[in-house]
Amino acid sequence: QVATPLSTPPMITSDDFALAFDIDGVLIRGGQPIPEAIDALKYINGENPYGVTVPYIFLTNGGGKTEKERCLDLSRQLELEISPGQFICGHTPMREMAQRYGTVLVVGGEGEKCRIVAEGYGFKNVVTPGDIIKTRHDTTPFRKLTEEEYENSRNLDLDSVRIEAIFVFADSRDWAGDQQIILDCLMSKKGHLGTRSETFDEGPPIYFSHNDVVWSTSHEHSRIGMGALRASLEALYKAVTGKDLTTVAFGKPQMGTFQFATRLLQQWRSDSHGIDKPPSTVYFVGDTPESDIRGTNEFNEKSDIDWFSILVKTGVYQDGTIPRFPAKKTCNTVFDAVKFAVEREH
Ligand code: G3P
Ligand code: MG
Repeated sequence: QVATPLSTPPMITSDDFALAFDIDGVLIRGGQPIPEAIDALKYINGENPYGVTVPYIFLTNGGGKTEKERCLDLSRQLELEISPGQFICGHTPMREMAQRYGTVLVVGGEGEKCRIVAEGYGFKNVVTPGDIIKTRHDTTPFRKLTEEEYENSRNLDLDSVRIEAIFVFADSRDWAGDQQIILDCLMSKKGHLGTRSETFDEGPPIYFSHNDVVWSTSHEHSRIGMGALRASLEALYKAVTGKDLTTVAFGKPQMGTFQFATRLLQQWRSDSHGIDKPPSTVYFVGDTPESDIRGTNEFNEKSDIDWFSILVKTGVYQDGTIPRFPAKKTCNTVFDAVKFAVEREH
């Protein structure tokens, strides 16, 4: 353990273990903090019987805004400062693909926000469904752009635009229109808008920022999410073309996402706490067995670091049901989860 400089009274920072938190259904529901979340974060920031602070990161499948904007929201909701250096959302790893493709179709989220995220990642030419509808209004017979959308969208030269890849960054606000446009691209000749392939096997690749079929909001029952759109699109493609569609999803439970999280945690521990060795154990607190618990358990099998899964009962997982992917520990709330982790380490 190392003393944290400049803290009064002197605080001990654990250099041995760390925490990683899922957000929706663990800390936040429907834009509001889960009450125990605020106590949980105070606890790991030193308000515990051991006077210890524990380094932590956030790992959410959600997105739709820049990491900086998401951190500002989260800081306000949880009443403490959260830095982009300790934050990964579903689309964060997509930034590593920005140099691979020239023109991309970016789908999902509010207004222009996802275009701004994608451009911030370095994607050079970002086309949105709004651009396509503005250019050809009969693309989506029942979807009209609002005045604001029309103003923000760009006119395209449909004869020259070639979509090299499709990225679903955040939840679609208009499933019918977005699926129509995605389907048009997938069925095109090598991504040339307005063309139709004869074989339906030359369309651009499609990436989703995660695959959560359901997620936890303010409603008492889970709501359908991006994984549901993915399943719907695959079924639609099969129904229309007779062919199977291959899609790729980022986010949890993908191993790449946990590798990314390991690198971020290492960097965060070093930059903000001066710790240069890897943690012995990372406790991951999540509410969705299929993404949080599955990913943590499978990554634990491959990693030198012990990744320890904790399932909470405040989100997708419902007490009394049998999760398909069982956690090492189940707790009522995130507050119970952090107390368990800190006590287990002492
Ligand atoms: O759309 C976000 C949702 O599917 C999951 O978010 O924080 O529970 O990973 P989170
Ligand atoms: Mg969750």
